Amino acid sequence: MTKRTIVTMPGDGIGAHVLEQALRVLETVGFEADYVHADIGWEFWCSEGNPLPDRTLDLLKEHRLALFGAITSKPKDQAAAEINKELKDKGFVYYSPIVGLRQKFNLQLCIRPCRTYTGNPLNFIRRTSDGGFEEPVVDVVIFRQNTQGLYAGVEWTDPPENVRKAFESHKKFAAFKDVPGPELAISSRIFSWDACYFIAEKAFEYAQKHGYKSVTVCEKPNVIRETSGMMEAAAREAKKKYPDIDHWSTNIDAQMMWLTKNPETYGVILCGNMFGDIASDGFAGLTGGLGFALSGNIGEDCAVFEPTHGSAPKYADYDTSIVNPIAMVLSAAMMLDHIDELEKAKMIKDAIEEVIKDGKTRTYDMMKMTGRADVIEKGAASCEQMGDAIIAKIKVRV
Ligand code: NAI
Ligand code: MG
Repeated sequence: MTKRTIVTMPGDGIGAHVLEQALRVLETVGFEADYVHADIGWEFWCSEGNPLPDRTLDLLKEHRLALFGAITSKPKDQAAAEINKELKDKGFVYYSPIVGLRQKFNLQLCIRPCRTYTGNPLNFIRRTSDGGFEEPVVDVVIFRQNTQGLYAGVEWTDPPENVRKAFESHKKFAAFKDVPGPELAISSRIFSWDACYFIAEKAFEYAQKHGYKSVTVCEKPNVIRETSGMMEAAAREAKKKYPDIDHWSTNIDAQMMWLTKNPETYGVILCGNMFGDIASDGFAGLTGGLGFALSGNIGEDCAVFEPTHGSAPKYADYDTSIVNPIAMVLSAAMMLDHIDELEKAKMIKDAIEEVIKDGKTRTYDMMKMTGRADVIEKGAASCEQMGDAIIAKIKVRV
């Protein structure tokens, strides 16, 4: 087989720390690849007015497989204030490069598995009526539509006249008709049938293939009738091909309550873009938090694997990085699964499972410490030590 080239995008802050560990682990399992670095993130916004330079897009077009760390994103005004002074007021507008990547390469399928590992002190527990507690196995996979909805970026403050007119043609806009333009902000939630059906079908297919018994649509069709209603209808249609998989529906708000009561009930969760973002953080919180939350952004021609956490700027400049690289390492394993390197992926997943079960190597988050430079002295593993522990488990097998 020809050697693959993987585009590596460390991005900002802790993105580089966790990616470094993932690359060490990939090397240990004998995954042979060339790695090509690509620029992305805040630095390039400030210096070039573009956090996602064209040269990065070219590399992705060529190699079509990438590992991404994390980026720093800031609100509009702050972004405008921090751009280099020679680029100020030249019409540069900040947008999130990871959201941009998903849209440019139509990475419409976002998969975010959340599972408990035996021995993880951060696992969800539930008090029982006799004063004890139980620790159910949570194993949920969120399918998030990744390109549309509220994150598609079709929005305005002070909408142009023709847009305003179009909105005025809807009778419910009467409530806003006297709001002056500069005081009116509109963010539109756009879904298309093709995209809804595509992800719904993928969700059922995944449930069938991996032994989950249900797909739960997590939207709000009783209120957001058109878009949530379309996702619901798409799931109904997709379900016809998968008679053995149950189709359940919950509203996003209720789901946030249910997931803290009986998270073990759910298997595959299917959502639009924003609700998928919310539900995946919710379930991640029950299965170790952001240090464990992996994801894949998958399109027809390109796929990008990343932890769902951000750049955690407060930990970016520590001499010894304290953050947990597991989410990033698991994202790399997911990349291996995606390209059918199943054995190597399993080696990584098994090693992580063993490290967690052993309980000897725990980053600060696993020890429930407040993240500070002194956590290492207090017994927490550094980012690199967690990488070492995973590597050591792999080495006893290879
Ligand atoms: P964040 O995910 O960077 O950090 C939130 C908190 O989670 C951290 O302070 C830390 O306590 C914990 N955390 C995150 N990653 C961890 C890890 N690997 N190990 C241990 N603990 C970890 O989110 P925050 O603070 O809201 O945003 C920081 C920046 O990241 C912002 O600029 C935001 O826009 C950006 N962001 C980028 C994302 C991406 O690149 N995909 C996703 C989320 C936020
Ligand atoms: Mg998120």
